[in-house]
Amino acid sequence: MANVVVVGSQWGDEGKGKIVDWLSERADIVVRFQGGHNAGHTLVIDGVSYKLSLLPSGVVRPGKLGVIGNGVVVDPHALVAEIGRLAAQGVTVTPDNLRIAENAALILSLHRDLDTFRETSNSGTRIGTTKRGIGPAYEDKVGRRAIRVMDLADLPTLQDKIDRLLAHHNALRRGLGQAEIDPKGLYEELASVADKVLPFMDSVWQLLDEARRNGKRILFEGAQGALLDIDHGTYPYVTSSNTVAGQAATGSGVGPGAVGYVLGITKAYTTRVGEGPFPSEQTGEVGDFLGTRGHEFGTVTGRKRRCGWFDAVLVRQTIRTSGINGIALTKLDVLDGLEEIKICVGYTLEGRAIDYLPAAQAAQAAVVPVYETLEGWKESTAGARSWNDLPAQAVKYVRHVEELIGAPVALLSTSPERDDTILVQDPFQS
Ligand code: IMP
Repeated sequence: MANVVVVGSQWGDEGKGKIVDWLSERADIVVRFQGGHNAGHTLVIDGVSYKLSLLPSGVVRPGKLGVIGNGVVVDPHALVAEIGRLAAQGVTVTPDNLRIAENAALILSLHRDLDTFRETSNSGTRIGTTKRGIGPAYEDKVGRRAIRVMDLADLPTLQDKIDRLLAHHNALRRGLGQAEIDPKGLYEELASVADKVLPFMDSVWQLLDEARRNGKRILFEGAQGALLDIDHGTYPYVTSSNTVAGQAATGSGVGPGAVGYVLGITKAYTTRVGEGPFPSEQTGEVGDFLGTRGHEFGTVTGRKRRCGWFDAVLVRQTIRTSGINGIALTKLDVLDGLEEIKICVGYTLEGRAIDYLPAAQAAQAAVVPVYETLEGWKESTAGARSWNDLPAQAVKYVRHVEELIGAPVALLSTSPERDDTILVQDPFQS
């Protein structure tokens, strides 16, 4: 029986929430392994909508364990607030259904300040971040000065760690003309939140090792998308973590062999939030059509998403960098009624044909998409539950996508409703 990792195969917002929910019903443990509360997943269970940012989807399902792995950056205030919001909806989060890795790094208010300052100042590259402090928190992690969850359990040594952290941040803040942080204030802030976080703390690698030996099924829940990966994405317009499937292992403390089936959530067109290259972007009528029909507004920041045609080059690349075994194709119904549908099948760069996205920033901005045009379909695909319910042209579109990206459609989602799904291959049985 395979474990499953779910990753976004584009720039995030591929509709992971519904698929993760569908799979979490079949899993015992749901593990987040990267990112933080920059993610936004909406789950609809029995007609009730739950918005999750930091918590793994498993926590809203009775009997499932949600785990926040060491690869996640945890804002303790956001954690407490999210648990509070769920409590108001009748979902109780306790150590029985949530564990947090002792070695996960914390996001502090100074990280949020720095993220916001950089995004709003006129110098440097504006990334269009979520301003949640994600990037600065990861910087401190790799800079070996982060405060980690376990440090909250050792208050006598916390002050020294804070001093080390502030030696860096206060120098930076002075340079930016910002007020310095008072070490005592930061200590008090952390001490006040410690007792709310510590009950969830655990040694996640040991917990997962034991779970695996007991035959438990694990679902690794990725956030964002592979094109936002710090190494394989459209750098520097990326998030600050590895979002590809390999991170499921390092971000939770299991070996690569434990990850299992890799499911890439893939939208039938393309969107991105924030700045950065987007070769198949449509700014005119088509972009407006996709944005309106697809309700393309960010769950976390409410920002309007940029929209464009399906880019088979990018998804084919992601299939390789994440080792995707099959895709879940989402939002096909958004294309219903279009006379014709384009798919980006290659690029030209300075007049030369290429079949991949180059790594250099200037080249990524300069590639020109090459399109194939397919005939659209008039009928609705919304709510289809079998291939027979789909118009012939829609089936043709899906088959052509599979051929172009070199991976099969394991699941086809035809509406936000959980039952409106065509299952071709159960990832847990593969
Ligand atoms: P950060 O993760 O807040 O640092 O933002 C870096 C980039 O990733 C920006 O372009 C964000 O819009 C994008 N991003 C972060 N989280 C998500 C997400 O969950 N969905 C889509 N884009 C995201």
